[in-house]
Amino acid sequence: MTEDVSRVLAPGLLDESDLVVETTLRPRSLDEYVGQRDVKANLSVLLTAARGRGEAADHVLLHGPPGLGKTTLATIIARELGVNIRYTSGPAIERAGDLAAILTALDERDVLFIDEIHRLNRAVEEILYPAMEDYALDVMIGKGPSARSLRLSLKPFTIVGATTRVGRISSPLRDRFGATYRLDFYEEAELRAIVERSARILDVEVEPSAAAAIARRGRGTPRIVNRLLKRVRDHAQVHGDGTVDRTTAEEAMRALEIDDEGLDSTDRKLLASIIQKFASGPVGVAALAAVLSEEVETVEDVYEPFLLRLGFLDRTPSGRVATEAARQHLARLGYEIPPARRPEPDMPGLWEGPPGLPEDDGPEDGPEDGRDDGRPGDEGQAPG
Ligand SMILES: Nc1ncnc2c1ncn2[C@@H]1O[C@H](COP(=O)(O)OP(=O)(O)O)[C@@H](O)[C@H]1O
Ligand SMILES: [Mg+2]
Repeated sequence: MTEDVSRVLAPGLLDESDLVVETTLRPRSLDEYVGQRDVKANLSVLLTAARGRGEAADHVLLHGPPGLGKTTLATIIARELGVNIRYTSGPAIERAGDLAAILTALDERDVLFIDEIHRLNRAVEEILYPAMEDYALDVMIGKGPSARSLRLSLKPFTIVGATTRVGRISSPLRDRFGATYRLDFYEEAELRAIVERSARILDVEVEPSAAAAIARRGRGTPRIVNRLLKRVRDHAQVHGDGTVDRTTAEEAMRALEIDDEGLDSTDRKLLASIIQKFASGPVGVAALAAVLSEEVETVEDVYEPFLLRLGFLDRTPSGRVATEAARQHLARLGYEIPPARRPEPDMPGLWEGPPGLPEDDGPEDGPEDGRDDGRPGDEGQAPG
């Protein structure tokens, strides 16, 4: 059960049936792509202009938490340009020669999508600089003292890079992208539209209140609402007549241990650890990851962004802190809530409101991904 739950919510993981669903549900054009209005508007100008000039579009960097539509957008970019797309990823390109082979095989104006581009290794990255800048490939001929470098020219192409951690991308690489777009968590209304669209495609009848219930627990993430919809559909088929109404939807999500805020058991375990084991924090992310038996990167990329966005978690110079809103949420669910260790005056902003006021309309933009990898003093300065 627990494994099943984590598979529903962890945006990075895929099983095969999810893959099939993902492909059928994936929007094919900017018009079908719900939300991200500013990104779509800017991208549309960039693509229209490139198409008008008959040139390869500028290189585009997409960043944001998993499941928000980066790969989808890359596919749409190629479609809108009317060119082919080739998919690869940072870890998949092991040697400079691998990248050279991919680049020379591209057709004029094709799109090369590099997922997890922050994980490219150094040697590969260095091949990429002249390729992106001058459509040139510098190859070494021979070995030792007689080695020399030869410059080959490539057909113009477009790199679309995607990353969950823009802070991990070296600045020379970042500078070579003509446009950088940040995808943000989706609003509930947008997620509802995605649920309704997916239900039509999957041919499931979903009542509006059920779509809203799914959207509300979707962690702002299209991939997750699609997955929830699929599980809810199964539940409706087995326990009802196949129609998804609000009760079925809520029952199904309860069975998956997803609470009213969309938190799964790992989220709750994370918050409960901070609250119970570390007196609500601050605690370092490494200690937290160890308690959860997760990688630091998974905690930072998969679990934290939405908790930050909900206002349940805060990053301070001295570590992660469970907010009063998180304490209240877990208290409502029956968790034991020991007193917080943090002294009142040290707590900036968030805790200064009158007690009882919900703090759940959190800061609009959470900390940039990867920006604060252990670097202190980056945010949330304590007064005095
Ligand atoms: N803007 C959107 N509108 C509708 N569906 C979307 C949107 N963005 C993502 N999705 C759905 O969510 C799934 C995950 O998106 P994906 O592009 O794989 O995310 P990422 O690459 O950022 O992890 C897609 O298969 C698609 O079905
Ligand atoms: Mg992706």
